[in-house]
Amino acid sequence: MTQPQRVEHLATDKGSVPVYTTAVVDQPWDSYTATDHEVWRTLFRRQRELLQGRACREFLESQDAMGISEAGIPKFSDLNATLGPTSGWTLIGVQGLLPELDFFEHLANRRFPVTWWIRTPEQLDYLSEPDLFHDLFGHVPLLMNPVFADYMQAYGRGGVKAHGIGADALAQLTRLYWYTVEFGLIDTPEGLRIYGSGIVSSGGESVHCLESPAPNRLGFDLLRVMRTRYRIDTYQKTYFVIRGFDELFDATRPDFRPYYEQLATAPTFPAGAVLDADRVYHRGTGEGWAQDGDI
Ligand code: PHE
Ligand code: CO
Repeated sequence: MTQPQRVEHLATDKGSVPVYTTAVVDQPWDSYTATDHEVWRTLFRRQRELLQGRACREFLESQDAMGISEAGIPKFSDLNATLGPTSGWTLIGVQGLLPELDFFEHLANRRFPVTWWIRTPEQLDYLSEPDLFHDLFGHVPLLMNPVFADYMQAYGRGGVKAHGIGADALAQLTRLYWYTVEFGLIDTPEGLRIYGSGIVSSGGESVHCLESPAPNRLGFDLLRVMRTRYRIDTYQKTYFVIRGFDELFDATRPDFRPYYEQLATAPTFPAGAVLDADRVYHRGTGEGWAQDGDI
């Protein structure tokens, strides 16, 4: 594949991250090499197998409905032909992480930015920034779900608003994204299931989040989540569990301005905290946790 264009590195709440040109790019599909497609196939096979009985039904069914498959790296244009008529979302190609406001504006207009390049075979299990596998395999399927699709747009609008309020509001909103869109669990009649993109695109964390005794699994509570720090360098110490996408959408429907005001003077919680008010599915043993490193 041709090389992604890095513009600079920035120190952010996600550590030092490369920032790319904000331009929307056509997916250079013809430039993917046999190795790129093989990386896709390897990851796709491995994750689909791990995710049976672990990811929520909506996620797996939507992947199938969109034709995301083992065959090779999908074409954004093919996916858009299904996604557009179903949910009004459009995938757009990008080089990688966008400046926050650009990202929010895309979501607010039902455009989902997907990194066009894929990791190398040496990076199969870990890379520090989102690539095509994370964005496409992980984020795109739930855009087919009507409630989740609306949640993502509302989040984008909320982000534009928070951007005008200040850094604390943005940090609180980012925590919400982290603990829902990226690392969320959902309670279903069959048991806890994964819907977070950061989990479904990670082999280790797909198992760890549900089966390890180490992390907490706690009921979702909006303001609690917005006050909870998180880890970017290890598996999460805490996962928050929603009881359905409606719970998420309904809880986030109100205007957040009063919440931001209220939280301005409230301390944050460590990533591994369990509070008296928490609805506890599982209290983690904390085994193997590094003591610091929350952000
Ligand atoms: N309702 C929130 C606000 O007024 C926006 C939002 C919606 C934020 C959904 C997150 C998720 O800011
Ligand atoms: Co992501």
